[in-house]
Amino acid sequence: MCGIFGYTGNKTNAANIILDGLKGLEYRGYDSWGIAIKVNGSIESEKHVGKIGNAQTNLPTSSIGIGHTRWATHGGVTVENTHPHTDCKKQVAVLHNGIVENFQELKDELQKKGHKFVSETDTEVIAHLIEEYLKTKNFVDAVRETFNNLKGLNAIVALYTKSSQIIAAKNGSPLILGVGKGELFVASDASEIVKHTKQVIFLEDRQLAVLDKKITLYSLPGGTEIEPKIHTLDWQFEKAEKGEFKHFILKEIYEQPRVIENIALNRRGEINNLAQMIDEARGTFLLGCGTASYAALASVYLFSSIAKKHVNFSIGSEFKYLEDYLTPNSLLIPISQSGETIDVVDPVEKAKKKGVRVAAITNVLGSTLYRQADFKFLLGAGVEKAVIASKSFIAMISTLLLTAYTLAGKQQEGIEILKNASNNVSQILKDETIEQIKKLAVRLEKADHIYVLGRGLSYAAALEATLKIKETACVHAEGFAGGELKHGVISLIDKGIPCIIIAPNDETFDEIISNAQEVRARGAFIIGIGPKNNQVFDEFIQTADVKEGTLIPQIVISQLLAYELALVRGIPDPDKPRNLAKSVTVK
Ligand code: F6R
Repeated sequence: MCGIFGYTGNKTNAANIILDGLKGLEYRGYDSWGIAIKVNGSIESEKHVGKIGNAQTNLPTSSIGIGHTRWATHGGVTVENTHPHTDCKKQVAVLHNGIVENFQELKDELQKKGHKFVSETDTEVIAHLIEEYLKTKNFVDAVRETFNNLKGLNAIVALYTKSSQIIAAKNGSPLILGVGKGELFVASDASEIVKHTKQVIFLEDRQLAVLDKKITLYSLPGGTEIEPKIHTLDWQFEKAEKGEFKHFILKEIYEQPRVIENIALNRRGEINNLAQMIDEARGTFLLGCGTASYAALASVYLFSSIAKKHVNFSIGSEFKYLEDYLTPNSLLIPISQSGETIDVVDPVEKAKKKGVRVAAITNVLGSTLYRQADFKFLLGAGVEKAVIASKSFIAMISTLLLTAYTLAGKQQEGIEILKNASNNVSQILKDETIEQIKKLAVRLEKADHIYVLGRGLSYAAALEATLKIKETACVHAEGFAGGELKHGVISLIDKGIPCIIIAPNDETFDEIISNAQEVRARGAFIIGIGPKNNQVFDEFIQTADVKEGTLIPQIVISQLLAYELALVRGIPDPDKPRNLAKSVTVK
């Protein structure tokens, strides 16, 4: 959450370079944005509420500056709360990603010393604390002492009018440094740096970097100098454009057949390794957040039914309360599109300290999770720009399904299932089904609640379908295991309430149809998604029957429905729903 970009070098259009960087990092938060540059020994800045869009900057020429795109934690979405934040004398400018847990205590002390605060943020205490330390220390020591005083997981970047340095320090949120020819960069994400240079340093937790003519690294809290490790990132910069599509989410939905096929055809070796690690482990634990957590939950059903293997699942943020039973023989499989989700990264760090093996499934090369893991499986879904996860989920499911088939000694069968699922998704993306989904979206436009029911593997699918509807179309939706209906949930069902039934042609079919009958008897409007029609469905969207892989076209249909519903409900930008950020780096 929050995007950071800083530049110092031989170019004089620092503000433009930073603005471009922020445009690429906007997925990390889009409540507001700001830039501060150094001009003739003073700081000049601009701050704006809202998304960056095609903004231009009118800041004057400068060769050093920092910028930030905010996802609000402390304090509302206002210009005053927008980063960069400054001290009383406007000599220090600070960017921050994270939460200063002891900010109130620090603020009280600073106020007693006469510091005047203009924002409600936790970040502003950092600028004032640096100012305080600058009374007796140089800039580097002032930032180091300040950072050592912050509680919580934080990344900060600071600029000072009386110094030619940019200083960055971190413990938790990501910061990557770029080493170009006569120029240096700092950013929350390597993808914005590789546009300028392939030479990068991954700032590790409890490290401080000084960007001047070169980069000097120090350990924290002590300040001992350490040798920087420069990595050459041989990445092709993937330029994600919408092309013919109105939104990135739609484009990414349409990319899914290729994503599935890539996993089916090109990843056998890595899938074999992953399957072997699961086979050898004494206890496998999968964890993820949001959409990735539903992929992890789905894997429990997939490994059970296909490979007759029990694996455990936990939501990332809950896993730290369950880690006591991990041993060095356990295998941890964190799943994360971004590879930066703090609720995944944090428990992985703790598990590693216990000697647990980590096999990460992520979409982002060089991400924190990628670097933490002993074994890395890259999803290869390509850049996912829309804040809502679509193709990354389908890539996660394809990977887990094929791993389960591999573990069962039936890899070829798994490959065939994925190929068929990919073909069916291509079919669904053709006009006929799309028209049907558009009409259904119009029918559901005024719905205040939508319920989604599934059993077994389809329970995980129901939860994912529900999340797509909630976040894309901003409609209240709930996913339930069909068997739970009569334990309370059915009291919510009223006349006309839409209920989506995830109905694959498997052992759950008869029972989920009975559940559909029960809600229909109470007046619900029933939408079936699956290979087999049934008289209980008021509306039926057909998929092929591709065994466990049926979940894939079923989810694609729910993604499309969520998108079309967003359009008919007039959601301003389905790529960037309100209050969300693509990379969740605060707890
Ligand atoms: C839903 C969505 C989120 C993410 C979650 C985890 O569409 O995007 O629920 O799935 O924040 O993100 P990653 O996979 O990056 O760890």
